[in-house]
Amino acid sequence: MMNQEKEAKAIAQQLGNIPLNDEKIQVEIQRLNRKNFVPLEQVKALHDWLESKRQARQCCRVIGESRTGKTMACNAYRLRHKPIQQLGQPPIVPVVYIQIPQECSPKELFSVVIEHLKYQVTKGTTAEIRNRTLRVLKGCGVEMLIIDEADRLKPKTFADVRDIFDNLEISVVLVGTDRLDKVMTNDEQVCNRFSASYRYGKISGEEFKRTVNIWENQVLKLPVLSNLTQPKMLEILRNKTQGYIGLMDMILRDAAIRALKKGMPKIDLDTLKEVTNEYTAPPKTQK
Ligand SMILES: Nc1ncnc2c1ncn2[C@@H]1O[C@H](COP(=O)(O)OP(=O)(O)O)[C@@H](O)[C@H]1O
Ligand SMILES: [Mg+2]
Repeated sequence: MMNQEKEAKAIAQQLGNIPLNDEKIQVEIQRLNRKNFVPLEQVKALHDWLESKRQARQCCRVIGESRTGKTMACNAYRLRHKPIQQLGQPPIVPVVYIQIPQECSPKELFSVVIEHLKYQVTKGTTAEIRNRTLRVLKGCGVEMLIIDEADRLKPKTFADVRDIFDNLEISVVLVGTDRLDKVMTNDEQVCNRFSASYRYGKISGEEFKRTVNIWENQVLKLPVLSNLTQPKMLEILRNKTQGYIGLMDMILRDAAIRALKKGMPKIDLDTLKEVTNEYTAPPKTQK
């Protein structure tokens, strides 16, 4: 501990006194401004579950509040199933991941799928575009279609989602908040097919501590350890983020940048307090 403090002071002085190091700080700040994917335990667990659904060609839901990491986890799953390019043939794309617009109509859903598979969206009736989408999905050997922000599907679009499964027997995954469950209950057919559900949650207890530690070592990577898991700092982080990983990531990267700008090689308690005070805690869970 003592040594670390000394080292910190020494480096702080260096950073403050040598203007050349400004460039180094800029590089670090740019690095900290970029998002960094961390293969957390909950990510791996979700991937295992999705993998079993893909193999069984079953439909399912992934439900969780905003800012818990659903989008990053699902997108990473897609990246683990790399498309296979074939000469003169359509690529094989085992997993398709799409984000859809607000109030998503059937036509809009089809367009997003077709564009994701790098085909041109042609004009035509909804029926024509629907058929084309089914052909493209089949031609590309799609085994799983992940629809993120599925709460945005219009009620009538759910029927088309169901038809994609019924026609092609591919696994369709709806990702969304608890609102998705509410929207879906209007359609019994949809509920039946998508009854399997996986909850993606906030982090708490020991897992929160472990995650902060991972962030310190794998994301922030400051010249000197800040010991963010010491009780005082950890308590501040727990209270402010309430276990939302999105908030934790934002606050910690913000605090790291703030510290560097002050010429410090690590986040100290004052800087952490200063930064967290600027954030409002997330609203209480709305269901
Ligand atoms: N596995 C991860 N690695 C790194 N950062 C993550 C991870 N999961 C979530 N985050 C952080 O949390 C933020 C919110 O994640 P996101 O996937 O958009 O949540 P959701 O889709 O549940 O609203 C991300 O922008 C990122 O800052
Ligand atoms: Mg999301």
